Amino acid sequence: MEQTLALPHGTLAWDDLGPHRGSVTVVLLHGFPHDRGLWSGQLSAHDTAFPGTRLLVPDLPGFGGSTPLATPGMDGYADAVVAMLDAAGVTQAVIGGLSMGGYVALAFWRRHPDRVRALMLMDTKAGADDEPGRAKRRELIATVQRDGIGALVDGLLASQLGPVTRERAPALVERVAVMLRRAPASGVIGAAQAMMNRPDSTGTLETITVPTLVLVGVDDALTPVRDSIAMSTAVRRSRLVTIPDAGHLAPLEQPQVVNAAIAEFLDVAVRPG
Ligand code: MLT
Repeated sequence: MEQTLALPHGTLAWDDLGPHRGSVTVVLLHGFPHDRGLWSGQLSAHDTAFPGTRLLVPDLPGFGGSTPLATPGMDGYADAVVAMLDAAGVTQAVIGGLSMGGYVALAFWRRHPDRVRALMLMDTKAGADDEPGRAKRRELIATVQRDGIGALVDGLLASQLGPVTRERAPALVERVAVMLRRAPASGVIGAAQAMMNRPDSTGTLETITVPTLVLVGVDDALTPVRDSIAMSTAVRRSRLVTIPDAGHLAPLEQPQVVNAAIAEFLDVAVRPG
């Protein structure tokens, strides 16, 4: 199930589940500062939720089992994902990403459009950081350098999880805390720099010609529903799905509802094509 690849900068690790022949391949890219554990609700339900679908779920460079890039950036992350597709023998895939993973998915579309069968943009947005946003990234980097990732955990739990999860799902909150605490400082700092320097992808949206699922938790406080409405309006062949009782980590907070939305998207928008 776990696969690894030696790239010039180091190792890339991912989970590979499902049939290898004649199947649609779906790539799921985690956000910040997560790892492939973000997609545990999709990986564990894979057989029943997405029969006949191959799932490739990497740790982006700097997280989980993947070595950080020398110079982290959305383009470098996208190129690592294409190296994974090459190693897996996959020509085209549905590229899905949550938040930072969505920034990578948009970079992937710009750099490798012929490898994209469809896109799934979840709890994410197209715009770049503004100056106050960049100042917050600099603060976050300084905090991690001074005090370690542990100093971020409470704030991230409060901002990333919706109120329903925080109030009613203590075991899930603890699982997310464990995932956040294991994020390596080097990966976190690199990804924060990469996000701070990422380009504005608003203009990219109107270049997207493939079917696109835009999905967002109704209570997402970081990339609110209005960002998803704006993306879905700009992308020609898009469908917008909102997930009740979920915040910024909708696929982890409401896996069954999100899995049903992904499965329906794959059935309607992807398989017939
Ligand atoms: C994420 O979940 O990946 C982050 O909220 C993205 C960001 O900080 O812009």
